[in-house]
Amino acid sequence: MGLAGRYNHFAEEFIVDPYALWRRLREEEPVARAETHDGYYVVSRYEHIREAAADTERFSSANGTGIPPLPMVGIIPIDVDPPEQHEYRRIINPAFTAQAVAAHEPQVRAVVSEVLDDLQGRSEFDASDQLGMRISPPVALGYVGFDREDWPALIQGIDDVTRLRSTDSEATLNAAGGVMEICLKLLADRRASPPRGDLMDLILAGAFHGEPLSDQQVLLMLATLLVGAIDTTALAIASSTYYLATHPDHQGYLREHGISKAAVEEMVRWSSPVQVIGRTVTRDTELGGCPLHKDDRVLLIFASGNRQESVFENPDEMEFERPSIPHLGFGHGPHKCAGLNLGKLMLRVTLEELLGRTHRFELINPKAIRWVGGEIRGPKHVMIRAEWR
Ligand code: HEM
Repeated sequence: MGLAGRYNHFAEEFIVDPYALWRRLREEEPVARAETHDGYYVVSRYEHIREAAADTERFSSANGTGIPPLPMVGIIPIDVDPPEQHEYRRIINPAFTAQAVAAHEPQVRAVVSEVLDDLQGRSEFDASDQLGMRISPPVALGYVGFDREDWPALIQGIDDVTRLRSTDSEATLNAAGGVMEICLKLLADRRASPPRGDLMDLILAGAFHGEPLSDQQVLLMLATLLVGAIDTTALAIASSTYYLATHPDHQGYLREHGISKAAVEEMVRWSSPVQVIGRTVTRDTELGGCPLHKDDRVLLIFASGNRQESVFENPDEMEFERPSIPHLGFGHGPHKCAGLNLGKLMLRVTLEELLGRTHRFELINPKAIRWVGGEIRGPKHVMIRAEWR
C-alpha cells in the first residue's frame, strides 16, 4: 500500500496536522490510491488539482462531490456539470457580484458588532463557536432570505448533517429532512408573498431551459447555499483568528496597515476551510502520469495545493504582501465558489472589528483545540484571551 493508502479526510490522524503527509504526497505520489471509503485517488499537487477542477468533461461533479457521498446528490449547481451548471450560476451570480455584496457591508458589520459587543468585556472567548459560528449563519441565512425564526433549527440541522455524515447515515438523513422541511416552508411563503429584493427572489424568478425553476430545483439550490456558506466561512474566521493569535507580528502588521484584499486572500489560502472536494472520472484518462479509469473517484486536496512550495514561497505562513497567485481556497474552474465575495466580506469585517477593539489577543489553552474534518477542515474550541480597548 502506498503513502495515501490509509488516507481518510475524516480521521483525526489525518486532520490534526496533515501537512507533512501532503508534502510527501506532492513529492512522491502526486496522484495516489487511497483504500478508505471504497477506494479513490488522492490528488495533492496544485497543477493537477487545477487541471481536474477546470476539466469538467473528464472530471464530473454529477455523482456528487462527497467521498463518501453526501446524503443528497444532485444539489444545484455544485453537482451539475456545464453547460447546465452555467444556466444555474447565471440565476444566482447577480446576487454575488463584488458590487452587490459590498452594498451589504453595513448589515454584515451590524451582525459582527452585535457579536463583539457581547464578547467585549469577557476576558476569554472561543473564536469558533462564539465568533465564527455566530457570524456566518445569520449573515448567510439572512442573505438568502430565510426568516430569523428559522435560523436556530437550520443551523442545528446543517451542523448535524456535516458532523454525523461519516458515522450515522440514518441521523444524517433525519437532519437533512428537517432542513428541507424548513426550506419547503420558506418556498411556500415566498411564492405567496411580494418580492423582497433578496437572493430568494432571484431564485424564484429564475429559469432553466426557458422554464421557471420547479420546487425541487429551488430546494436543491438552497441545499448548496446552506452547505456552502456557513461552516466554510465560520472556519475561515476561526482559523485566521487562531493564526493571528499565535503570530503577534502578523497581528501587529494588520493593526498598522489594515486588512488589504491580498491579506484576506492569504487568510483563505492558509486556512483552506474546504480542504478537499471529490470528482468522478468520466472516461479512461490520466492525471499527473497516473492512469485513471471511467467511474474512478478523485479527491482534490485544495488545501495541499495551497501549501505547495513551488507555487507559494514559505507556504506555511501567511504573507500579506505575497505576489497575487491564484489560490485554491475557493476552488478553481466553473465551480469556483459563487459566494466568495460574501465569504471574504465576513472575514474582513470580523477581523477589522476584532483588531479595532483590542490592543492584542492571544491563544490560550491550545490543548483544547479540536480539528474537524471531512470536506471542510478547521479548528474548534479556539480559546482566545483578548486585551480589549
Ligand atoms: C470563506 C468562505 C468560503 C469558502 C472557503 C468556500 C469554498 C468553496 C469552494 C472550494 C467551492 C468549490 C466546490 C467545487 O469545486 O466543487 C465552493 C462552491 C460554492 N460556494 Fe463557497 N465558499 C465559501 C463561502 C461561501 C458563501 C458565503 C456562499 C454563499 C452564500 C458560498 C456558496 C457556494 C456555492 C453556491 C458554490 C457552488 C458553486 C458551483 O458549483 O458553481 N460559498 N465554495
